[in-house]
Amino acid sequence: MSATTTDKYPNYSPGLEGVPAGISSISEIDSDRSSLQYRGYDVHDLAEQGSYEETAFLLIHGHLPTAAELADFNRLLGAEREVPEAVYTALAAMPKHTHPMDMIRTAYSILAPFDPDYTAPSTDHAANLRKAERIIAKGGTMVANGHRIRQGLAPLKPNPSHTTAQNLLYLMRGEEPDAKTLQVLDASLTLYAEHGFNASTFACRVTVSTLSDLYSGVVTGIGTLRGPLHGGANEEAIRMILEIGEPENAQAWIDDALATKKKIMGFGHREYKKGDSRAFYMSKVAKELGIEKGVTKYGQIADILEKTMAERKNIFPNVDFPASYAYYLLGLPIDLYTPIFVASRVAGYCAHAIEQLDHNRLIRPKQIYEGQENLAYVPVAER
Ligand SMILES: CC(C)(COP(=O)(O)OP(=O)(O)OC[C@H]1O[C@@H](n2cnc3c(N)ncnc32)[C@H](O)[C@@H]1OP(=O)(O)O)[C@@H](O)C(=O)NCCC(=O)NCCS
Repeated sequence: MSATTTDKYPNYSPGLEGVPAGISSISEIDSDRSSLQYRGYDVHDLAEQGSYEETAFLLIHGHLPTAAELADFNRLLGAEREVPEAVYTALAAMPKHTHPMDMIRTAYSILAPFDPDYTAPSTDHAANLRKAERIIAKGGTMVANGHRIRQGLAPLKPNPSHTTAQNLLYLMRGEEPDAKTLQVLDASLTLYAEHGFNASTFACRVTVSTLSDLYSGVVTGIGTLRGPLHGGANEEAIRMILEIGEPENAQAWIDDALATKKKIMGFGHREYKKGDSRAFYMSKVAKELGIEKGVTKYGQIADILEKTMAERKNIFPNVDFPASYAYYLLGLPIDLYTPIFVASRVAGYCAHAIEQLDHNRLIRPKQIYEGQENLAYVPVAER
């Protein structure tokens, strides 16, 4: 913040940095300990020992499922994976150059009126939970089949026994994924599922605070996640790593980038100043994957960038950095990285939208006006 802004407006924080904007019991970011908990559970434990489905249940229902609850939830997600043909027709009508983030944002818009609870009041908690389950179930289907459609391939029918990660990979590729690919993707979905009042989740809460519906909240969230300062960073990060190409180029690349004041995508975070808790686990997974695949160069490039950024800037990687090269090693198309993030984060959006609607107060902050005042109106012919 510039000194002038601070002096002039002592109560104003640009970007709302450090400003509490609501009360929530969904997740807690502890910047000092670099930790993240979803409803009291450490994300590392959920990513390492749990599954994305357990996490999604935890986020929207507020407690970890019992074995029976999880089996029911998996059955329900499986039964809800299919989407109406109209969604595919709309996606097929989009220009071929459409970014898949615009496709998934559009897909959720088309989907909304097909929801059996479409006309339920936005404050109907039980209906919102049912909508949330459908929103979570269908995200991966729409991302993966949207990818098929833009390649000129026909959409595939989801297999109701598939998990979220399996469904995404199977529809995208038309074949069953291997166990390691599933494990890495599932862990990343868990880590991406929720993150407090980040820009897109907050935007989602603002939308539903007008008593708008969950789908509108999700669509707002996706539009906000799209930018490179937020979800889009995972795509930018891998393009940077690929530009570096080999570990022996990495030091010169980062020296030059810092000298020319480039932003290093996948580094830094508004909330974590000592490192992003999710990045620690994702880095471990990404590096193990590289060893298993016999492609360790991205991990080596990452080490050089991370060391230099820490030493010279005291800035650490966020989850998008390791997720980017993990996804690359899994052979996922680069422009699907952020849409895959969406397929996971919709659980967080829905949990927040429901929490907001359960205790709603319209979100409507004040502005500071710096424009002109009291000007005399001059008719257009005299201007
Ligand atoms: C995420 C991000 C927007 C957080 O930003 P913020 O809290 O507003 O912090 P600022 O952008 O004000 O950064 C503070 C300082 O660190 C520097 N900085 C922050 N992130 C940086 C990065 N990725 N590369 C280089 N410098 C960075 C800024 O240039 C600034 O330096 P200055 O004070 O000398 O001007 C920012 O770190 C960023 O743009 N990162 C890259 C995009 C990214 O990975 N986003 C995904 C987030 S999960």
